[in-house]
Amino acid sequence: MHDPALATPWTTTWPATNKLALYRELARELDALLTGERDFLASAANAAAAIFHALPELNWAGFYFLRGEELVLGPFQGRPACVRIPIGKGVCGTAAAERRTVLVADVEAFPGHIACDAASRSELVVPLFAGTRLLGVLDLDSPLIGRFDEADSEGCELLAKIVGERLAGAIYPPYPYGAE
Ligand code: SME
Repeated sequence: MHDPALATPWTTTWPATNKLALYRELARELDALLTGERDFLASAANAAAAIFHALPELNWAGFYFLRGEELVLGPFQGRPACVRIPIGKGVCGTAAAERRTVLVADVEAFPGHIACDAASRSELVVPLFAGTRLLGVLDLDSPLIGRFDEADSEGCELLAKIVGERLAGAIYPPYPYGAE
């Protein structure tokens, strides 16, 4: 696991000349952070925090998980967000419906974008798979127009792959929480 007392190299090396190398390093850190933990919620929460604090110029990073025909808000870092997104709606619902990464350079130019935080200007949403099963999406928002490029897209797909694999091996919380 990454030593939380140590600064991530990311903050000092951004903007990166080789972003993908930094994403590979973050993917390794995530793998170490999640390996061995079987609690789905704990792992998703740690992954959201690790990603949010490693990547510069974000105002929101987190997960939406698939429940039936909608995405439901999961662990995240940032301002409170909309809880339910129908499949096919918004950037997240589009990424889930089409099972592909959606990079939006300017959210105002994306018809149907769902504004949760008025500060968000660009967005990157990557589907999260457990094998071939769609688990949900990883959603990153930035207050800067054009914050994400193809390298971010490819890098975040690496992160989502690790998170998906690790969550696939975790125990999904039974609902409702608690016990009599
Ligand atoms: N903007 C997203 C909604 C989620 S928030 O950004 C956290 C969308 O259009 O799906």
